[in-house]
Amino acid sequence: ILPPDLGGLHVVVSAGGTREPLDPVRFLGNRSSGKQGYALARTAAARGARVTLVAANTGLPDPAGVDVVPVGTAAQLREAVLKAAAQADAVVMAAAVADFRPAAYATGKIKKEDGREPEAVALVRNPDILAELSADRPRPGQIVVGFAAETDHVLENGRAKLRRKGCDLLVVNEVGERKTFGAEENEAVVLGADGSETLVPHGPKEALADVVWDLVAGRLS
Ligand code: PMT
Repeated sequence: ILPPDLGGLHVVVSAGGTREPLDPVRFLGNRSSGKQGYALARTAAARGARVTLVAANTGLPDPAGVDVVPVGTAAQLREAVLKAAAQADAVVMAAAVADFRPAAYATGKIKKEDGREPEAVALVRNPDILAELSADRPRPGQIVVGFAAETDHVLENGRAKLRRKGCDLLVVNEVGERKTFGAEENEAVVLGADGSETLVPHGPKEALADVVWDLVAGRLS
């Protein structure tokens, strides 16, 4: 039994993958199931925190005792996270947020014209929510945690991402078509802005979540 060591704290967790619509029937998305973010929300609630879970397209049941805010696109996720973050002691961005969205939305289904080559889809950049939160903390002393989903040069890319994003902690995990996305288990290295590196061996996503909350609690106290 864990002590309620997060009692009195309000934490915000984002989970799942954003979907960027092309037309009423199609979107650009990713493979996140939301399981890692939900594990973070569940463990924080079990340790006594008040939890707001901003959930993008997960289809998972709401965890007990957690305030769930469903969203679809990166823009909606940004709005919901920034709103909840104004009152939060810590924000953990476990969601896979689309870096780009289609430049235009077709209000009718895009048709396949006979004999014509398909048009290229023009993309525009989405705002970087993690970098924005890290640079402009809505509450002094707030702890901001990011995730880095990498397929190669995992640690090198993670270290560079930590510097770029400016968050306090970055959970670096390897992903692939059959790795981490949708799985019950994960393994990671949690990089601290203070130079610390915490190895979390392969195990349930809850175990990684508990290490993240240990590191957050240590920085808040
Ligand atoms: O959901 P599961 O199936 O359980 O899988 C878990 C997971 C692999 C999705 C999760 O562990 C994970 O790695 N989440 C982050 C995925 C991601 O978007 O990584 P990234 O390296 O592209 O982004 C880095 C960080 O910036 C993330 O914290 C992301 O939330 C944030 N970001 C990214 C783009 C953007 N426009 N705004 C952001 O805030």
